[in-house]
Amino acid sequence: MSWLHDKTTDLLARVQEAKDQKAFPFFRPFENVGPRVKMGAGSFVNFTSNDYLGLSQHPKLIKAAVAGTQHYGTGLGSARPQATSVRHEELERRLAQWLSYDDCAVFTTGYQALVGVLQAFCDDETSLILDKLSHASIIDGALLAQGAAPDMELRFFRHNSPKALRRALEKSDNPKKLVMAEGLFSVDGDMAPLADYVEICKEFDAALILDDAHGLGTLGATGRGIAEIHGVLRDVDIMIGTFSKSFGATGGFVCADQALVDYIKLQARSFVYSASLPLAQVEAALTALDFIERDHWRFKKLADNGAFFREGLIDLGLDINNSETHITPIMVRDEMQTLKFAAYLYHGANVLMMPFVSPGVAPGKERMRCNVTAAHSRSEMGYTLEALAKIGQMLEVLPAGTCTKANNLQRVMWLTEHKIQSVRNAGLGYVKGELGKAASWAKERLPF
Ligand SMILES: Cc1ncc(COP(=O)(O)O)c(C=O)c1O
Repeated sequence: MSWLHDKTTDLLARVQEAKDQKAFPFFRPFENVGPRVKMGAGSFVNFTSNDYLGLSQHPKLIKAAVAGTQHYGTGLGSARPQATSVRHEELERRLAQWLSYDDCAVFTTGYQALVGVLQAFCDDETSLILDKLSHASIIDGALLAQGAAPDMELRFFRHNSPKALRRALEKSDNPKKLVMAEGLFSVDGDMAPLADYVEICKEFDAALILDDAHGLGTLGATGRGIAEIHGVLRDVDIMIGTFSKSFGATGGFVCADQALVDYIKLQARSFVYSASLPLAQVEAALTALDFIERDHWRFKKLADNGAFFREGLIDLGLDINNSETHITPIMVRDEMQTLKFAAYLYHGANVLMMPFVSPGVAPGKERMRCNVTAAHSRSEMGYTLEALAKIGQMLEVLPAGTCTKANNLQRVMWLTEHKIQSVRNAGLGYVKGELGKAASWAKERLPF
């Protein structure tokens, strides 16, 4: 045993404790992907996916990915400076045109795009200013940049507060000010006040980078995200997105003016020194962009599903914090209760929701996060609301007598449809499991 093993003991002991209580929520292996996933004999309603438009399962994306692989093979054998295909260039041209920028750089993941851009631009004369709840990839980019530029200043401001941003800019000493904002927050489902940020950045002559990983392709009349909602698309200096959410694929991208993109392609280490995005993903992203540009009904369906589910949660008396979108936290505000709630939903109701506890969120902000997608059906969401009502009462998170506003007919329809979908998804194994459950129920209760 080395000190390496000593380092693991505390964390792994906590994990084992959670596993013993069947409450460890990670690495549960799916046998398919979508709003309903099969695991073992069970079929689970899945609220943990960022595939917001359900595009990862679309036959046209799959066909495009297969064709890309057939033509170019499974990998490009090198990083972008040596391994750029004509289709990478086409994807970059299309993304830049979509968001009204000069050019674009496609990275292999969104994480690499964020880390690379921050490392490429921050130096010892930079003040980098971040929202306190910034995503890990932004924090890691800042830390990487700080490693090479120790005199760089790093400041945080209160979540989504223009006032706090202004104060941070007033206090920052360095001549090069860089504000890094996140559009739609992935753990809270609330949106940055971007128009205010744009104004403040202009006032302080600060550059503005926006990571709208969760808003691009989901929000705004034409899916161009938070900047479209705020009418400031051309005012963001650098726009960063990912293919791993609404695009149903993998990869990241950075849109900006020509000089900035040319510089990023030569200076972002995660672009220059990491493998080029495989053509399966390039082609899938191009096809997803066709859908996003053309079929606005998917955003509408996503918004409708989000509104239905949020209203249902509010009707139950659950606290959804400031969510206004398809990303909805259920605030439980207690670590054990949060883990238990998610475990009961999983084992007792075949519903998958991700519990967030410290250090993922601050103590007192523990919650389950529900990601609604355009692919969820009313019955899946309605069934889940019923399950939340029942389990919420068992755990005394909700008062006795709490019920959804659904009438009996709706309830029966949701339940029946849910069962039919479960059988369709999980097949014979599920039916056998259900029969087994019914048999043991009968054995315990019936007098013969
Ligand atoms: C806000 C935000 N930015 C960036 C990323 C990174 O994207 P990718 O999954 O493409 O690495 C994520 C992914 O979780 C995210 O939530």
